[in-house]
Amino acid sequence: MEQIDFNYLDRLAQKYGTPFYMMDGSTYMHNIESFKSAFLSKYPNLVVGYSFKTNYVPALCNIAMAAGCYAEVVSEMEYDLARRIGFKNVIFNGPIKREPILYKALNEGSVINLDSLYEVESVLKYKSKNPGRDVAIGLRLNIDLTDADGVSKVQCGLRVGRFGFTRKLLSDVIPSLKKSGIRIISLHGHTSSSDRAVANYGLIVKQMLSLCSEFQLDDLQYFDVGGGFFGAAAKGIDVSNKPEYSDYADIILDLCLQNEWFNKVLPNIVIEPGVSVVANVFSYVSRIFQTKEIAGQKFLSTDGTVFDVKPTLHSNNLPHTFFVKESGDGTYVANLVGSTCMEKDVILSDVCVPSTIKNGDYVKIDGVGAYTIVLTPTFINYVSPIVSVEGKKETLVRRRQTLDDVMAFYNI
Ligand SMILES: Cc1ncc(COP(=O)(O)O)c(C=O)c1O
Repeated sequence: MEQIDFNYLDRLAQKYGTPFYMMDGSTYMHNIESFKSAFLSKYPNLVVGYSFKTNYVPALCNIAMAAGCYAEVVSEMEYDLARRIGFKNVIFNGPIKREPILYKALNEGSVINLDSLYEVESVLKYKSKNPGRDVAIGLRLNIDLTDADGVSKVQCGLRVGRFGFTRKLLSDVIPSLKKSGIRIISLHGHTSSSDRAVANYGLIVKQMLSLCSEFQLDDLQYFDVGGGFFGAAAKGIDVSNKPEYSDYADIILDLCLQNEWFNKVLPNIVIEPGVSVVANVFSYVSRIFQTKEIAGQKFLSTDGTVFDVKPTLHSNNLPHTFFVKESGDGTYVANLVGSTCMEKDVILSDVCVPSTIKNGDYVKIDGVGAYTIVLTPTFINYVSPIVSVEGKKETLVRRRQTLDDVMAFYNI
């Protein structure tokens, strides 16, 4: 990416308007390749399923496809989008799979991880209508993510995760699928945790291996540990105590390569990274419109919004840089507030801003690649454009939304 300074951002702002996202595709490619190398240096059979839900900007997904990733999708919309983008290899997860999309995915040979009994019934029905067809599916295992101290590591402090089949259910499901001639080619163990700790993958892998051995899942081609990893942190985030890609590869592969069933079957290890490859790939640039002081508090108003950079409205300040036309000495403390006319539209709280900042300057917020663009519907403002920046070349990969776009799916 070109050196980013006031003049550079000002040029992009004149061309595309503000606010806008900046996408750095080479960082994304680098993240994927680094994650791959961490595994491939120990074991040759690896599939990376890029988690669409994290950010499905087509230009980004094209890079994942070029890097050899499968699309990992969790809904009909994501499935259709992946196929439209051109992915031949799709991993279809998620709790709701209506029969038409499920049957389409079966016809197209996608890797489908079933989550619930109603899907098993649909697949059995499909097989009975297509007795001559080789039907192969995957199953999601409900993982007990309780650590040695009895603490649940499931995301948001939940006591249990709700996805997949319990082991007890699988003891009925697996024999009934096998009896109908349906092959089980994938086992999925994704379990989201809040701490993204390496040890969680020990729990996941052990439970998956034990199930594979017990039920002799010898047709398995995809040993899918899911996503939920840490990585791709934007500069400015303290990563000193955070895991690296190789830490995850070590724990997963060390356990697998010691296991008798695994060494006999040698399936692909599947990882489904989202945040951990895309967080630092996007930044968000908005323009400062005014500075204000009210009851001793200073505010900078921008045409950006918190809903575009952290739609979950968490309270952490994201890494950021102010770009001012006129530099000067000193800073003061202010809140950066957004354009939506909502009091809670606070993008940065109590941060140091250059003393010379004024109308026409810019602020860039980093690390906004994950769960932002996909979670940002039209709200008060037109949806922002995305500019892909590669060296000196820039490409508009999404234009700004227009009134016609907003009206397109309403019947008036
Ligand atoms: C099945 C599945 N795979 C992969 C991911 C990606 O997780 P993350 O973005 O935390 O890496 C998720 C996210 O919830 C998921 O549900």
